[in-house]
Amino acid sequence: MDKTIEINNLSKEYKVLNRKEGFKGAILNLFSKDYKYIKAINNVSMEIFSGEILGILGRNGAGKSTLIKMMTGVLKPSAGALSINGNTPFKNRKQHALNIGIVFGQRSQLWWSLPCIESFKIIKEIYSINDDVYEENMNFFNELIPLNELMNKPVRLMSLGQRVLCDILASFLHNPKIVFLDEPTIGLDIDVKDKIHKLILSLNSKKKTTVILTTHDMGDVDAICKRIVIIDNGEKIYDDKIYKLKKYFGPNKTLLAHINSNKIRDDSVVITNIKKLIDKHIQLIDYLSVECNNRWIKIVVDENQISVLKVLNLIQKEFDIDKIEIKEISTESVIKKIYEGKCL
Ligand SMILES: Nc1ncnc2c1ncn2[C@@H]1O[C@H](COP(=O)(O)OP(=O)(O)O)[C@@H](O)[C@H]1O
Ligand SMILES: [Mg+2]
Repeated sequence: MDKTIEINNLSKEYKVLNRKEGFKGAILNLFSKDYKYIKAINNVSMEIFSGEILGILGRNGAGKSTLIKMMTGVLKPSAGALSINGNTPFKNRKQHALNIGIVFGQRSQLWWSLPCIESFKIIKEIYSINDDVYEENMNFFNELIPLNELMNKPVRLMSLGQRVLCDILASFLHNPKIVFLDEPTIGLDIDVKDKIHKLILSLNSKKKTTVILTTHDMGDVDAICKRIVIIDNGEKIYDDKIYKLKKYFGPNKTLLAHINSNKIRDDSVVITNIKKLIDKHIQLIDYLSVECNNRWIKIVVDENQISVLKVLNLIQKEFDIDKIEIKEISTESVIKKIYEGKCL
């Protein structure tokens, strides 16, 4: 595989004021030269290959966005070297921008009050996308997600999930070689996350685009990445295939679902019903453990055998579920285990 990105001993420090508190402090801050430095990225090296989906995983504040901002040319590194398709992002910003797409999960790149399709047309002009490419891409996007209900909606009227889906499509519109997705699934429900995972996989496989995504959610990298890099306190602490971690942590997920009905008093009846249901439809009762307390159903699902969403669909047919939660292996526990040296 071709290398598309080379990062060597990259570091980024932010210079911040040592702020003093209170009213007097606020005045002093205006004139203060009392600075401190925060090392957000510390001596990170890695190579990224054409066409791969690389997941950058780390807790909040680990340095993921800082790394992405350097790769996209928004921030200048404090030290080290960064080369993307032969360009230095910060120096060749304009040239670099034509080759990449960017989505920040926290805010949209689309025009807030314009119908989405108008934003797409503006992007077409900005990147001088020719008519054939535009049409081909829109047709392909439409196969992945029905666009008619989205394209006439202004972004401000969209749900967060719809907005992120549109942002992702927009980032692929000019056929960039690399797309950066900074926390694309932040704040989304499990079913919308699932849609986004599928969308990213389809776009990557059709377009052979290199996709670099950051997340603090183990579920994202589990669903779409073969290789992950884990960043903690600005340092790279893991860089390898995800299956090596998965073998260690196992494929289990915990589904929590709450039944919205006062009629159901007896938790043990719920358990029996669920077991019957699962047995009838999927016959995998051995792979699941089922509990129920105060109308909270708890099922541990072995995802090598069946997806947690399938199990959820099944129990939704029988029960009126009003709250769900799916617990992944937590990123915190993964990082802790790496520090303990248990999976290197
Ligand atoms: N513009 C900034 N000025 C000062 N410190 C910053 C700035 N942006 C981020 N930081 C700090 O740098 C560290 C890494 O932040 P960030 O890259 O946003 O992490 P992540 O995206 O993994 O949550 C954090 O300690 C954060 O507080
Ligand atoms: Mg971030």
